[in-house]
Amino acid sequence: MGYAETYQRALTDPEGFWAEQAREVPWFEAPATVLDQDDNGAWRWFRGGRMNTCHVALDQHVAAGRGETTALIYDSPATGQVQRYSYQELLDWTAQVAGGLQALGVARGDRVVIYMPMIPETVVAMLACARLGAVHSVVFGGFAAPELAMRIDDATPKVVVSASCGIEFDRIIPYKPLLDEAIRLAEHKPDRCVVVQRPQETAELNAPRDIDWQAFVADAEPVDCTPVDATDPLYILYTSGTTGKPKGVVRDNGGHAVALNYSMSAIYGVDAGDVYWAASDVGWVVGHSYIVYGPLFKGCTTILYEGKPVRTPDAGAFWRVIADHRVKSFFVAPTAFRAIKKEDPDCALKAQYDISCLEYQFVAGERLDPPTYHWLQEHLNGVPIIDHWWQTETGWSICANMAGVELVETKAGSPTLPVPGYDLRILDEAGGELGPGEEGAIVVKAPLPPGSFPTIWDDHARYDESYWSQYPGFYLTGDGGYRDEDGYVYVMGRIDDVINVAGHRLSTGQIEEVVADHPAVAECAVIGINDADKGQVPMGLVLLKDGVNIEADALQAELVQMVRDGVGAIANFKRAIVVTRLPKTRSGKILRQVMRKMVDGEAYTVPSTIDDVAIIDELEATLVETGVMSG
Ligand code: COA
Ligand code: AMP
Repeated sequence: MGYAETYQRALTDPEGFWAEQAREVPWFEAPATVLDQDDNGAWRWFRGGRMNTCHVALDQHVAAGRGETTALIYDSPATGQVQRYSYQELLDWTAQVAGGLQALGVARGDRVVIYMPMIPETVVAMLACARLGAVHSVVFGGFAAPELAMRIDDATPKVVVSASCGIEFDRIIPYKPLLDEAIRLAEHKPDRCVVVQRPQETAELNAPRDIDWQAFVADAEPVDCTPVDATDPLYILYTSGTTGKPKGVVRDNGGHAVALNYSMSAIYGVDAGDVYWAASDVGWVVGHSYIVYGPLFKGCTTILYEGKPVRTPDAGAFWRVIADHRVKSFFVAPTAFRAIKKEDPDCALKAQYDISCLEYQFVAGERLDPPTYHWLQEHLNGVPIIDHWWQTETGWSICANMAGVELVETKAGSPTLPVPGYDLRILDEAGGELGPGEEGAIVVKAPLPPGSFPTIWDDHARYDESYWSQYPGFYLTGDGGYRDEDGYVYVMGRIDDVINVAGHRLSTGQIEEVVADHPAVAECAVIGINDADKGQVPMGLVLLKDGVNIEADALQAELVQMVRDGVGAIANFKRAIVVTRLPKTRSGKILRQVMRKMVDGEAYTVPSTIDDVAIIDELEATLVETGVMSG
C-alpha cells in the first residue's frame, strides 16, 4: 500500500488501522476496546489491554531467541569508550536495577526522577521504571537547579536517580551539587537518591538519603515485569509552554508501544537487527522515543552517543560513528549540521569514512532551513534527506516522508505530508479552514493517534485549556504554517511564546521570570530572534525601575548569569537591552511578535489595540542605537 492509500485507511477506519498495528506488539491481555474516551473526555487507545513496556523493549526479543543481538552501543568520545550490550545483557541489568528500585519502595504508579547524562545507566533506569510500572520523569542535564526543583515538586518522586557529573566537550559538569540545590529548593523531598559515581568526578553522598549506584545494583535481586494497563502512565516529560511553569506531558504505555513500533518501520525504514541512531539527548522527547523506546521495541541496535557533532574530536564525529557502527537510519537536529557546516564547509572530513551503510538521513526538532537542506543534499550522495515535524506532546511524527511506506517527492522547507493518524487542518483565528498557501494555526482534528499525550500530569484542566479550548475538537499544535496546492505542510514557527534554541525548546516566559527578578528591573520581555547557528536565541528587553542607575553592560552580565543559574546555559541568553517603554495593547499584553519581527527585519503590522503607537518608533531607535538592528 502506498502513502495515499495508507493515510486514507487510517483516516476512514482509525480503529481498524490501529487494531492491526496493535497486533504487532506483545500483550499479556489484548485490549478490549481500541478507542474510547475517559472520564475527562480525553481519547484513549487500547483500554483493557495489559502489557509492560520493558517487556516490549527487551523480554520479547530475548524470548524470541534474539538475546545475543546488540541492543545498545554506548559510544562516548567524551570518555573515550565504546561499549556494547546485547538484549540479554540489557535485560539482566534492567531486571536487577528494577529489583533495587523495588527494594527502595518504588511500585507501580510511583514516580522516579532521572537527572542524568548520556550513559547506559540512564537507559537502564528508564527501562527499570517501566518494568515496575513506575513512572519516570527524565530531566535534561542542561537544566539548572530551579528547573529541576520545579519538576521534582510537580512529579513528587519517591526516588531520584542521578550521576556525579556530565561531560560537555572537555568540561566536567558536576550534577550532584545541582541535585542537592534542587532538593533544597523543592517542597517535595524524595526518599532516596541513587547516584552513579563516574570516574571523572566523585560526588559527596549524604547517607542515608544518597546511595551509590554500584552498591544499590550489587545488593538487588532481579524482578520480573509488572503487568500494567495500556492506559497507565509510562512517563512524564516536562516541556516548555507559554508560562514559566513547564507542562508535564504524560505518555501512556499501550498507545506509545503501538505507535513507536509502527513508526520504526513505516517512517524510519528499519527492522529488527538494523542499526538506528538518534543523536539527541535522553532528556528530550527525541531521546525517549528514538534513542530508547522505538528502536528497542523494534529489536534494532540503538546508539547512545555521549559527544557532540564537532570538537569530539572534530567535525567528522558523526561520519565516524555512522561508519563504525554501520548506521542505516540517522536522526539529528538541523542545528547539529549547521555546527558541522561551519567548521567543515565542504564536508571534507566525510571522505575519511565509509558511510555507504547510511540509507536515510532524518532531521527534526526545528525547521530544516533550505541552506542546510541543500548542503546535506550536496554532500550525502543521494541519501534521502527527510525532514519530519513533531513535538513532545505527540511523541512521534505529525508529518514525515515515510521511508517504509513510500518516499514521495521532497520540497525544501516542508516536512512533506501528514502521517497516517493525523487529520491536519490549517485554521484562521475564527476557526475557518484556510486554503492552499494561506498561513494559519496548524491543528489536528481529534482523536490524536496512539502515542500522543492523554493529559498533563496532575493538571487536566491545563490540557483542555492549552490545547483544546481555542478550537474545540481540534488539537492546537502551537505551530503556524500552511499547506501548498499538493497538500505539503510548511511549518513556519511557533505562534505562542515558545522558542527553539539549538533544537532545545524553551519558553520566553520561563526566562522572563528570571530576568524580572533582578532588583533593577521593573518590567521585561524576552523574545526569540533569528540566529544563523542556533535557529533562534532569546533576547531581553528590560525597563529599569525609576531612579536606578546601572551601566547597561554590567546589567547585561548580571542578567546573563541569572539566566544561566535559573534556567541553564542551554538558554543561550546573551543579550539584554534597556528600553524606555515596552509596546503593549491597551489591555496590557506585551506585543512580543511585533518586536520579534522588527528585530528580524520582517514585515509587521502594529495592531490597532496598541496603547501608544509612538513607542514603536522609540523602540526602533533604541534597537538601532544598541546595534541590535541596522539603521
Ligand atoms: N549539560 C550541561 N550543560 C549543557 C548541556 C548538558 N547536557 N547541553 C548543553 N549545555 C551547555 C553547553 O555546554 C553550553 O554552555 P556554555 O554557554 O557554557 O558554553 C550551553 O549549554 C549552550 O549549549 P548549546 O546551545 O547546545 O551549544 P553547544 O555548542 O554546546 O552545542 C549543538 C551545539 C549543536 C551540539 C547542540 O546544541 C545540539 O546537539 N543540539 C541538538 C539538540 C537536540 O538534539 N534536540 C532534540 C531535537 S532533535
Ligand atoms: P519539542 O517538543 O521539544 O520536540 O519541540 C517541538 C517544536 O519544535 C515544534 O512545535 C516546532 O515548533 C519545532 N519543530 C520540531 N520539528 C520541526 C520541524 N521538522 N520543522 C519545523 N519545526 C519543528
